[in-house]
Amino acid sequence: MSTYLITGIGRGIGQELARALLMRGERVIGTLRDLGWASPEWKKFTADGRLKLIALDVRDEASIVEAASQLDEPIDVLINNAGLIGPKRQSTLDMDFEGFLEVLRVNTLGPLRITQAFLSHLRQSKAAKIVTISSRMGSLSHAKSDRIAYRASKAAVNKVMQGLATDLQPEGIIAISVHPGWVRTDMGGSDADISVEESAAGLIRLIDGLTLKETGGFFDWNGDRLSF
Ligand SMILES: NC(=O)c1ccc[n+]([C@@H]2O[C@H](COP(=O)([O-])OP(=O)(O)OC[C@H]3O[C@@H](n4cnc5c(N)ncnc54)[C@H](OP(=O)(O)O)[C@@H]3O)[C@@H](O)[C@H]2O)c1
Repeated sequence: MSTYLITGIGRGIGQELARALLMRGERVIGTLRDLGWASPEWKKFTADGRLKLIALDVRDEASIVEAASQLDEPIDVLINNAGLIGPKRQSTLDMDFEGFLEVLRVNTLGPLRITQAFLSHLRQSKAAKIVTISSRMGSLSHAKSDRIAYRASKAAVNKVMQGLATDLQPEGIIAISVHPGWVRTDMGGSDADISVEESAAGLIRLIDGLTLKETGGFFDWNGDRLSF
């Protein structure tokens, strides 16, 4: 049994990742911004001690530090899932700059803040992995310009993850970015290609098979390597 810390398990991909991992017998520490939103489905897992829910906003340093200080156990896999699509106006020719900053706070700084805060817990694991749910929309090899704030935030988090991989490789800690597919969630919309179940199953398969050879990479939900 391994312990997974997953941010944003209230809905979407994060919720399904937590559900699938709990169903196969793992331990999950799941974050919610508001513990009042916890799904009734979680009750049986909190009761058997395999799910711990913690309140945390990835923008809020104090809530992150507080959550980390209350946790005294190893974390084997950190999944930075929480994310935001960003403001309505996010074109290069008409930008909501406050909204742009907000999406950077959540999508780029959030994963790094969480990683730093829980690094001591990851260091207690024999084979720690840090996985950030990024997006192909952040790939620098596409010239598309819609939702540029979101794209820039994911491009930036890919660079942050690559840097983390370099810095943590000597300790044997793996760090990667993944694209979860175009997934039917509040963010992906109902026309998206795949279900949360398909995405989570692919992501878990990828995470299970990770070795230090993959560290610093960017991968698709089905395991294919992507260019940054
Ligand atoms: N769906 C897709 O097609 C797709 C494609 C590529 C990448 N992604 C990425 O996959 C990840 C999950 O997306 P999703 O489709 O599941 O999105 P979603 O359904 O919109 O869920 C977003 C999750 O992030 C949490 N969150 C947002 N802001 C937060 C904050 N400041 N602090 C803590 N939690 C916060 C939300 O919590 P609340 O419930 O409290 O708001 C929610 O749990 C994101 O990083 C997204 O960018 C999704």
